[in-house]
Amino acid sequence: MTQPINVFEYETLAKNQLSEMAWGYYSTGALDQITLGDNRAAYERYRLRPRMLVDVSQRDLSVSILGQSLSRPILIAPMAFQCLAHPEGEIATARAATEAGMMMVLSTLSTQSLEEVAATGCPRWFQLYVHKDRGLTKALVQRAESMGYQALCVTVDAPFIGRREADVRNEFTLPKGLKLANLLTMADVTLPDVPDDSGLFAYFKEQIDPSLTWKDLEWLQSMTKLPVVVKGILRADDALLAVQHGVKGIIVSNHGGRQLDGAIASLDALQDITDAVGEQVEVLMDGGIRRGTDILKALALGAKAVLVGRPILWGLAVGGQAGVSHVLQLLTEELELAMALSGCPRIGDIDSSLVEPRTIANL
Ligand SMILES: Cc1cc2nc3c(=O)[nH]c(=O)nc-3n(C[C@H](O)[C@H](O)[C@H](O)COP(=O)(O)O)c2cc1C
Repeated sequence: MTQPINVFEYETLAKNQLSEMAWGYYSTGALDQITLGDNRAAYERYRLRPRMLVDVSQRDLSVSILGQSLSRPILIAPMAFQCLAHPEGEIATARAATEAGMMMVLSTLSTQSLEEVAATGCPRWFQLYVHKDRGLTKALVQRAESMGYQALCVTVDAPFIGRREADVRNEFTLPKGLKLANLLTMADVTLPDVPDDSGLFAYFKEQIDPSLTWKDLEWLQSMTKLPVVVKGILRADDALLAVQHGVKGIIVSNHGGRQLDGAIASLDALQDITDAVGEQVEVLMDGGIRRGTDILKALALGAKAVLVGRPILWGLAVGGQAGVSHVLQLLTEELELAMALSGCPRIGDIDSSLVEPRTIANL
């Protein structure tokens, strides 16, 4: 194939490139993958109402998130184990982010350390999984803060790992040589090998704290100056609780359909949440973003920016840093064209009048 022209072509190439275990881990959703599919289908349930005869000769995609200015409203979602896709792993992703002036959210479960990623100079947030070992959790937060991460993104939808049957079937674990690079102080820095089960599921059961509640967010905020963003909110009442507990941002997300199967598509959950919280906190979303028009719809429903997950891994698997850069470029160009064709030269011009849900009546 000549160079891929969209994210889906990257996905096809990545599938051929990756081991069965890595492909299974990256692509899967939980159980019957209903939410995984619905995350995509949701974009088709909205139609656009473009505005005409607006001067779109100059376009500006820049946004400000938590006071940081970004070249476009797209962040790289936190994703574990990127060295499974390419030997340069998270470093390659970080370099692509730096080049594009885009924010990378680094996973706690990265295969290169938060210090190594910080050394690339990329705009960065740190994603935190709260471990039962609170000393270790605190040390992670302090390391992230001292290494210049600009926000703490606390994932709240994973007290346990969702049952991902591909990982059970493949007895998912890390190949020799890959490690949980941020957790080298732990005795066991890799995933356990578990017969007939996923090593990641076992890791979470052993290490991650399922007793986490809103009170713990106060504990986290007491130990850091970094703004806290909660990732994995799907209900307006939870969003309001997040506001009450002082968080600065909310990521509407179902973890790419990998946690509770049957959970609402992120796009469908978005408007209730943006309506409920208004301007009190910044609302971002992720899940199923594969086209620039998907981003336009998410912004029209009130998101300030989106995070992109799997497409980054497809780019990384196919072409390392250059592959990630190209994926980011494709999505950006698609968004820019969609904005121009709908009469929105600036991100601030995108509003809810641009989208209309498809109902039975207008199908
Ligand atoms: C392979 C993979 C690993 C992930 N690892 C993490 C993680 O370590 N922490 C986290 O908060 N979310 C993780 N996620 C969820 C993503 O941050 C994001 O919510 C999701 O991928 C967005 O959906 P999309 O892949 O359809 O774009 C992971 C997702 C994938 C696909």
